[in-house]
Amino acid sequence: MRMEPFALERWMTTWETRVQYDLAESGILPLRARDLLELLPDAERASALDSLLDLRLGYSEARGTEELRELLAATYRGATPDEILVTTGAIEANFLLFQLLLEPGDHVVACYPAYQQLYSVPRGLGCEVAHWRAREEEDGFRFDVDDLARLITRKTRLVVLNTPHNPTGAALSDVDVRRVYALADAAGATVLSDEAYRWLGVPGGEPAAPPMFDLGPRGVSVGTLSKPFGLPGLRIGWLAAHGDVAARCWALRDYVSLSPGRLSDALAVTALRHRERIFERNRHIIAANLATAERWFAAREGLVDWHSPRGGLLSLLRYHLPLPSLDLANLLAERYSVMLAPGSAFGYEHRLRIGIGQDPAVFAAGLERTGECLAGLAGTA
Ligand SMILES: Cc1ncc(COP(=O)(O)O)c(C=O)c1O
Repeated sequence: MRMEPFALERWMTTWETRVQYDLAESGILPLRARDLLELLPDAERASALDSLLDLRLGYSEARGTEELRELLAATYRGATPDEILVTTGAIEANFLLFQLLLEPGDHVVACYPAYQQLYSVPRGLGCEVAHWRAREEEDGFRFDVDDLARLITRKTRLVVLNTPHNPTGAALSDVDVRRVYALADAAGATVLSDEAYRWLGVPGGEPAAPPMFDLGPRGVSVGTLSKPFGLPGLRIGWLAAHGDVAARCWALRDYVSLSPGRLSDALAVTALRHRERIFERNRHIIAANLATAERWFAAREGLVDWHSPRGGLLSLLRYHLPLPSLDLANLLAERYSVMLAPGSAFGYEHRLRIGIGQDPAVFAAGLERTGECLAGLAGTA
């Protein structure tokens, strides 16, 4: 298996521990362990802390504890805990699914631009990958299901999508996801839907579409606690798939990470039980950052613009300066201590990926500094 370098991850690791204003952050501001415990009613908190401290840190149940899988299964229509496999983040779930479902020479259709794993791993496995390209329209990026219909052939084994979408903020509607499923079903293909941004709605954006698992036996959903729960450090993701897919991914996983961390599994149970409070916090963060961003862009018309995400947390802003995105992103990180991800990592120039999940004070200060940098470059400072 010959893998291309993961462009965004290579760039992020250069800067993420060095900058003050990380506007490239792709999830919601992470919670502290203390915040998780504070979600519990007062009467339960002390005993919950004791249970965590007394937890014996042996190997955990390989598929994720029954309790965690039950909670996750209840978020899909008719899913059983056996159809859930808890993984080391969504990234492991995607990887296992590609390994299980694909053979060299298979035809795959994957959304593009995308979180690079979604097309690079199938390519690394020797598959022929057709790109379902986002269209740029007046009101932002959009995936047109008619374009997908033209790409699917009788040889297509897998359709890979990500909605809400990283990096464009596009989101498929209820009607769209049902059409995607029907097209794949007619071709005998599976649909892997990376739903890392599930539960992250945006005011005025696209209402949440059903998870792909709910649409039928060829639908596979991948989820994570990283983005919507602000818990990427737990490294808890999962896949929900019909029949024996989860069991077969489990058999592959025996060779990789064996089981989720015991402590992470326990904290994940707490997070899921109290998710409405976490989502309430998310709504405040998103609303504050959207308002800041709208003001900031409006004050810089002609220099920089964006479309707010239709779902999820990300957008590809566009700047009107003759500077490649990697150069601008490096300049911002080095001189202004601001991280905005270079569009080139997604195959787009004169773009930077911005996330609206950051601490609102950090977000506002980071944008101010970005404004200074852009004004300096444009000669309007
Ligand atoms: C679309 C998408 N899928 C999967 C992942 C991996 O997330 P996790 O932390 O759950 O492994 C990311 C992370 O940025 C992502 O954006």
